[in-house]
Amino acid sequence: MITAASRIAGLIAHPVGHSLSPLLQNTLAERTGLDFVYLPLEVRDPARLGEALRGAAAFGFAGMNVTVPYKEAVIPYLSGIDPWARKIGAVNTLTLTESGYEGSNTDLPGMKRFLDDAGISLRERAVVVLGAGGAAKAIAVLAGSMGAGSISLLNRTVERAEALKEELFRVCPGIPVTAAPVDSWKRAVPERSIVFQCTSVGMFPGTEEVLIEDDLFYRRAETGIDIVYTPSETVFLKKIRKAGGKGYSGLPMLVNQGILSFERWNGLTVPDEVRAEVCGVLRAELDRREGRSAAQRET
Ligand code: ATR
Repeated sequence: MITAASRIAGLIAHPVGHSLSPLLQNTLAERTGLDFVYLPLEVRDPARLGEALRGAAAFGFAGMNVTVPYKEAVIPYLSGIDPWARKIGAVNTLTLTESGYEGSNTDLPGMKRFLDDAGISLRERAVVVLGAGGAAKAIAVLAGSMGAGSISLLNRTVERAEALKEELFRVCPGIPVTAAPVDSWKRAVPERSIVFQCTSVGMFPGTEEVLIEDDLFYRRAETGIDIVYTPSETVFLKKIRKAGGKGYSGLPMLVNQGILSFERWNGLTVPDEVRAEVCGVLRAELDRREGRSAAQRET
């Protein structure tokens, strides 16, 4: 229920239409009993981003999430950014302060929380990252910061993997990093790897697709984490599980980053039972979008 006193936050993106964040944030508001409302704030013209932010500050919007394509573009308009955001050069959360919007990145701590909850430690482990875009960069920086034993970057466009490797040398010096094209994975993927699937391959509607077909690859993976959450059971995860590994969908990471933003804007801690409830609400929404009943869900 929106009241005259509602605090306002929103999502800056383009396009914004398929985002789960409004459902996530408004469910959090409802379950925690806060007078808070979260709106889609589409900025269609990138040239008007600064104008949009000044307007939001003038209205006193408490906070904003930022996603594709503005996570980097927003930085020049902010009064400051936190260390995680600085490390990866991308911001996903803005919080209104006296001096303007402060930028932070809750994607990385959200991923870290997911790994901690699942009991997955990256320390001294062989980490494989599929992809070299923004999501891959965040995971690779997190892996480097958590003391991974090695990081292998595999990407269709090898130049992007090489550029990310150079950045990792700067941000997490001392961690051995290799960059390779996807089809030479055999040289780059050690036994018992922890594999992060950070490409958009396998995402709805291309749900039959997978970046690497060869079952041998999946036998080298002890754990596989797919940042794709539509569908919840990707071909990547099916192959990981079939080969005897543990597979995790990206939905809890999405929920965690949203909860961290919500906590920052509202100065509270979301209880674990609300976190679980919100995961359930989002899963049900994804099932609805994919035309599937909960009873048919495989995971
Ligand atoms: P994000 O910021 O969400 O990671 P992105 O920067 O567009 O998005 O990156 C998408 C990733 O998925 C990239 O690694 C991309 O590979 P390229 O760098 O070669 O483009 C990968 N990707 C997307 N579609 C792909 C496909 N059909 N086959 C292989 N890789 C694909």
